[in-house]
Amino acid sequence: MRTLRILSISFSIVYGICGTIMEGGNCTVSNNRIDATTHKFLSDCDDRTYCAPSHSNSSSPQLNRRDGNNTTTLVGGTCMKRLCRKDEFQYGFQPTEELPPLCDRGSFCPDEGSGCIPLRPSGSYCELERNYQCAAPPNWGKLSSDFNLNFNGSVCLQSKCLFANVTLGLPCVSEKTTYSGYSALTGSQQVNYTVANDNCKSAKVHLYCDSSSGVCERMKGLGVDCDNGRECLSTNCVSSRCVEPPGQPAKVKPWQYALTTLSVIASVVATCVFLTYSHKRARVEKYYEVMDYYNEQMSLRSSIIRLHSAAASRLAKEDDY
Ligand SMILES: *[C@@H]1O[C@H](CO)[C@@H](O)[C@H](O)[C@H]1NC(C)=O
Ligand SMILES: *[C@@H]1O[C@H](CO)[C@@H](O)[C@H](O)[C@H]1NC(C)=O
Ligand SMILES: *[C@@H]1O[C@H](CO)[C@@H](O)[C@H](O)[C@H]1NC(C)=O
Ligand SMILES: *[C@@H]1O[C@H](CO)[C@@H](O)[C@H](O)[C@H]1NC(C)=O
Ligand SMILES: *[C@@H]1O[C@H](CO)[C@@H](O)[C@H](O)[C@H]1NC(C)=O
Ligand SMILES: *[C@@H]1O[C@H](CO)[C@@H](O)[C@H](O)[C@H]1NC(C)=O
Ligand SMILES: *[C@@H]1O[C@H](CO)[C@@H](O)[C@H](O)[C@H]1NC(C)=O
Repeated sequence: MRTLRILSISFSIVYGICGTIMEGGNCTVSNNRIDATTHKFLSDCDDRTYCAPSHSNSSSPQLNRRDGNNTTTLVGGTCMKRLCRKDEFQYGFQPTEELPPLCDRGSFCPDEGSGCIPLRPSGSYCELERNYQCAAPPNWGKLSSDFNLNFNGSVCLQSKCLFANVTLGLPCVSEKTTYSGYSALTGSQQVNYTVANDNCKSAKVHLYCDSSSGVCERMKGLGVDCDNGRECLSTNCVSSRCVEPPGQPAKVKPWQYALTTLSVIASVVATCVFLTYSHKRARVEKYYEVMDYYNEQMSLRSSIIRLHSAAASRLAKEDDY
């Protein structure tokens, strides 16, 4: 049983799978770690629990582990039900199960889910790339990024909360984190995705921290050379060029607008002209038809009158005799 558990733990460490110890089981707090490739938080405990250090010293077994010349003290703990969650849908829970609560504004849920913590002030510790753990600067309205590059004006760089307030040409702090995973399309192809984060002011002035010069520079427009999406105003760098992000609606050029408008107007005008002409023609035809009819009627009428007067004059002549 014990060997099995040790085996499963070492498996978890090697393969980066989450722990398997369930609620109430013993765990080692020192085994809390971030997976080197996926940067997912891992511990001895399963996805529904976290490794809470034992409080009383007597029941907390403090083992010594030797790694080469270093000796680390292993802090014993117990797997406890998570007290908060970061995401709307928490991994590892049944759909019917009650989820731990989300944290209120002004506090955050740490990776392990050990309970809500107030946002951390500038200069204090934060977990990898977790900008949302940092408290807003006093002038957050002016520093909050319109590209979502910081959280309310704060960033977490090298595990430290900083304000994203460095202006053009001043030295900045930058951090690149590479996430590895497998392609959703092929399944076996490894893909790396590097996220860059820095404390340059991105709100309105749109700056990024240049890794070669180490100072804040202006973000780049479409088609300019880049190393990372952080450098591009379009937030997307493909094959070392700033490009439009995928799924962007096609941009229509002014001449295309003009051409479309002109063709619409031309076809409307052509239709109007055609209808007017055909109507005119029909009217002329009708007019001649009516004229013919009229003339016919008139000639008929005059011949009747002539006939009538001829007959009348004959009758009058006969009366004279
Ligand atoms: C957990 O540790 C305590 C103290 O070392 C021990 O008494 C207990 O049997 C352990 N429980 C399990 C499930 O291993
Ligand atoms: C636990 O032990 C440490 C020293 O190892 C001591 O400083 C601390 O006060 C102890 N805590 C309790 C609750 O006994
Ligand atoms: C020993 O500790 C030092 C300093 O904390 C660290 O740089 C080194 O990698 C450790 N060595 C091992 C084998 O863990
Ligand atoms: C461990 O310490 C010994 C002597 O103190 C030293 O010779 C050896 O290189 C050290 N090993 C490591 C991995 O640091
Ligand atoms: C940003 O921080 C301020 C001050 O703490 C707070 O009032 C505001 O609600 C925050 N905005 C967001 C979007 O979190
Ligand atoms: C920028 O933010 C840092 C904390 O990250 C602070 O110490 C510094 O005073 C700020 N600078 C300005 C000009 O607001
Ligand atoms: C991704 O990074 C890992 C090391 O973190 C490396 O071994 C691998 O070759 C990289 N894959 C690609 C496709 O660049």
